Amino acid sequence: MEHLFEKLDEYGRGDVYPYHMPGHKRHGCGSLCEEIYRKDITEIEGFDDLHQPTGILRDLQTHAAKLYGAEESFYLVNGSTAGILSAVSAVLPFGGHILMARNCHKSAYHAAYLRNLKVSYLYPDLMGEYDIFDGIRPEQVREALEQETGIEAVLIVSPTYEGRISDVAGIARVVHEKGIPLIVDEAHGAHLGFSEDFAPNSCQAGADLVIHSVHKTLPSPTQTALLHVNGAIVDRQRLRRFLHIYQSSSPSYLLMAGIDNALQYVEEKGAEAFAAFAANYARLFQELSECGHLRFLSPEAGKQDIGKLLISTKMTNMSGKKLYDILLQKYHLQLEMAAETYALAMFTLNDTKEGYERLKSALLEIDKTLERKTSDKSGADCPSGRLFLQNPASPDTVGAVSLAAAWDGEKRFVRLQESLGLFAGEFVNLYPPGVPLLAPGEVITAQLIKDIKRYLKCGLKVQGIEVMQKELRICVLCDDKE
Ligand SMILES: Cc1ncc(COP(=O)(O)O)c(C=O)c1O
Repeated sequence: MEHLFEKLDEYGRGDVYPYHMPGHKRHGCGSLCEEIYRKDITEIEGFDDLHQPTGILRDLQTHAAKLYGAEESFYLVNGSTAGILSAVSAVLPFGGHILMARNCHKSAYHAAYLRNLKVSYLYPDLMGEYDIFDGIRPEQVREALEQETGIEAVLIVSPTYEGRISDVAGIARVVHEKGIPLIVDEAHGAHLGFSEDFAPNSCQAGADLVIHSVHKTLPSPTQTALLHVNGAIVDRQRLRRFLHIYQSSSPSYLLMAGIDNALQYVEEKGAEAFAAFAANYARLFQELSECGHLRFLSPEAGKQDIGKLLISTKMTNMSGKKLYDILLQKYHLQLEMAAETYALAMFTLNDTKEGYERLKSALLEIDKTLERKTSDKSGADCPSGRLFLQNPASPDTVGAVSLAAAWDGEKRFVRLQESLGLFAGEFVNLYPPGVPLLAPGEVITAQLIKDIKRYLKCGLKVQGIEVMQKELRICVLCDDKE
């Protein structure tokens, strides 16, 4: 089979002069590696067209589908974001009604905004011991579909940012009983299904549309992703239409070669690399059991992905953010994210022995300095470090405004402590992971005001809260009467 990187390499070494884009004309103009420019081309003769593939890109996409057990796959150069926007847009009419997990990534909310959707939420269970959301249960989906009429598609995220995996096969059965499609944002699970140590991927579990960030868990450059489609429910022409809209008309061949390379690697060396990954991770986990204070969420096939090491500081006198800062500043170890009561490290098949060793030694050393927490200040009034309770402004609440109407509505800034009971005019996100604490049109609750203040005090990044004249301000909808 022809591979893109070799083809680009050969082309880059040839003597064809580029009277076309990109403007760098295959020469560097700084210290960025010359080789990158030499291989960076656009849709020129012989290199196919991502938006209407008939050659190498069609073959590579067909190959990707085979590898994941999908009927059809699409290369994405604008991340899973483009896949989520396209999937949601393709399966719902403008103004349609979606049931989606409340812990979806912001791109799902952006799709709902762009398509003016009515949004109903599935609220994942909280795992109080670790302050994270669990996967979605099939019974929850069944209940929601029985209670609400007119739902046209369901969207869940699995694995979650923290690695919680839902019973996708069970959910797909429930959703298909209603004759509607299931979209799974599997951005964090491009490696799933490739080893017995991992859960099956959601194509294998029966989902209609599955989105993978190849760049998150496989060795591929940032922004590379895949969208897979299965079954007869999804209108493939509509899906192509939206991919055409949301993806660049100048897709990067370097990024596409990155996807090809990563999948080729998985095919040729995956069995060995994934086995080593699982063994290294298991050893790390075993060695970390010596910690007396820090706790670690254990991997469990089908429930908790091994790629995510959740380090809980909940029972200690240190916050997750403080642990994250110490690991970075003292040990030069950059973790994926920090929350109030945990920090999250990611492992993939590309980690080195040194990577495991350094984190293990640092955590064992830090653990010796910790003490058991005496009071549970955060836990007393907020069982989760990142809690969002069922918002009083569900789509059926009197006075509630749709996400799109709210985001487009007239707005003003008010002091955070005076915002109780008002409708949010902007998203408020803890970042990462980019799951909204508050979406436009939702009601600002006392709990939320308290949580936001605590997150900021703890040093977490809260998007959507401004500091104006030394005061915290939040964007709210103007009252009709104003
Ligand atoms: C659950 C989830 N879905 C989707 C995305 C978007 O992925 P991408 O960055 O590939 O666009 C992210 C990004 O962090 C994510 O965490």
